[in-house]
Amino acid sequence: MENTKANKRFRSQEWFDNPNNPGMTALYIERYLNQQFTREELQSARPIIGIAQTGSDLAPCNKIHVFLMDRIKAGIRDGGGIPMEFPVHPIQETGKRPTAALDRNLAYLGLVEVLHGYPLDGVVLTTGCDKTTPAMLMGAATVDIPAITLNGGPMLDGWWKGKRAGSGTVVWESRRLLSEGKIDYDEFMSRVCASAPSLGHCNTMGTASTMNAMAEALGMSLTGCSAIPAPFRERMNMAYQTGKRIVEMVYENIKPSDVMTREAFENAIIVNAAIGGSTNAPPHLQAIARHAGVELDVTDWQKVGFDVPLLVNMQPAGEYLGESFFHAGGVPAVMGELKKAGRLHEKAMTVSGQTMGQNLTGWESQDRAVIRPYDDPLRENAGFIVLTGNLFDSALMKTSVISKDFRQRFLSEPGNEGVHEARAVVFEGPEDYHDRINDPALGIDEHCILFIRNVGCVGYPGSAEVVNMQPPDALLKQGINHLPTVGDGRQSGTSESPSILNASPESVVGGGLAYLQTGDWVRLDLNAGHMDALVDPAEWQARKDAWTPPVLECQTPWEEIYRKEVGQLAQGGCLELATAYQRVRQTMPRD
Ligand code: FES
Ligand code: MG
Repeated sequence: MENTKANKRFRSQEWFDNPNNPGMTALYIERYLNQQFTREELQSARPIIGIAQTGSDLAPCNKIHVFLMDRIKAGIRDGGGIPMEFPVHPIQETGKRPTAALDRNLAYLGLVEVLHGYPLDGVVLTTGCDKTTPAMLMGAATVDIPAITLNGGPMLDGWWKGKRAGSGTVVWESRRLLSEGKIDYDEFMSRVCASAPSLGHCNTMGTASTMNAMAEALGMSLTGCSAIPAPFRERMNMAYQTGKRIVEMVYENIKPSDVMTREAFENAIIVNAAIGGSTNAPPHLQAIARHAGVELDVTDWQKVGFDVPLLVNMQPAGEYLGESFFHAGGVPAVMGELKKAGRLHEKAMTVSGQTMGQNLTGWESQDRAVIRPYDDPLRENAGFIVLTGNLFDSALMKTSVISKDFRQRFLSEPGNEGVHEARAVVFEGPEDYHDRINDPALGIDEHCILFIRNVGCVGYPGSAEVVNMQPPDALLKQGINHLPTVGDGRQSGTSESPSILNASPESVVGGGLAYLQTGDWVRLDLNAGHMDALVDPAEWQARKDAWTPPVLECQTPWEEIYRKEVGQLAQGGCLELATAYQRVRQTMPRD
């Protein structure tokens, strides 16, 4: 970095080099000298770059970042900056009870405080596991400090008996086989463990790969960052380049608000459909957009993204896993195909300092079995359908995972395609579901729809991934692998279940699902985008009048704070009061 660029005064100099306030400057600087820094370097007018470390022993999906740290720091040093690593509250999807979703907003809050209150001029956001990516982007958006994401990358492909075993997806498949009596407990464990062969995050197109693709589509990572498998040498190179680039971004003053614009979010929605991305992407992107002050509505997912074809052949919508996706070109190859079809906002600015269109020059699919061209996709219209009706204001359905068999059984009544009427069976939560799903008294047959409630942001708390309910064992044994399921919670991005989920408002705050009873008939009309309980309006109103909100017991102080402040999934499940704080960097904290 040329010294001439350094005649700019950095925010960190208010702490470390302020001759007008020697008392505080001395206090700020002395303790940073007792580790690895000298006074000379901290007063050298070079930018100080934070590295938000999301990996730890408790967060194995992101643990690779512990090993990438040397390369990130080397890049920052070679770029002319001074790196300072700091920890982020762990958000491990598979380890945190009651759900990691509860901790996305907690890690977000922590990041905002660090970026605001410490002498930082820019930040590398390490990402990986599902909620780490949105938490980091939400925080960067609120503070609006120069920021760049670095994914840790997916694990290598898992294999079981000569077949690809994808993270999460193998769990859902193995659960069915166990229920059907086709495998035992030991084989169940072995199959699932085989899907995790190395460091890295889920190797399927689950929420982790999806959200990192979203970060890249938003323009917040370097081109090609998201798909590189964690153990590959390209991942180390990317860590170095990302470190180097953030220093330039500080000099160029490229901020999240320059990158995460409405156009960038529309690009992300389109990419999500093309990759067969997770149903968790809408609430996470919604949350990032709100903290960035960008108008985005849950209905935009259908308006902008529904007619986008599925290009990526990756589990759960397809067959391959992360290694093949990377070799086929990863996210820039998908975006290159979308660009050729005129589907992207090419002028959107990115962290590279170039537009998205410029970044994508020369990128296209390198393996058409894995990334299909736009005019020969795996399926047409692969985006989300946004449903409404008397059960909820909005709920989502991911169309890329609706199997032919499911479509024929439920949605192909002659002359009435897309419409299905069924008897509802209602569960009060995952415990109730597990207790009763095999109870013959419920009379669940292949024409029923399963509902689950009390599992949204306030209800669970945090919103649980439980909507992809498996049918009763008796139906599985007949070869019925899926019933339609509906709920106010979420489901894993690795699930191939064609559920209707993220129903908002949730039942515990008085959403329509609260008034449904087992035995009611419901109508699903996919063409009209409606789902309604076929209950007489007077009777429906009487149930509403008789309803009282359930008493919710919190086990930790954060649960109580979260429940008071959190909004609904359709609005991103944000801490509502936090959305009022924008561009926090423009205010300097007191000494
Ligand atoms: Fe962490 Fe899937 S569980 S990435
Ligand atoms: Mg999950």
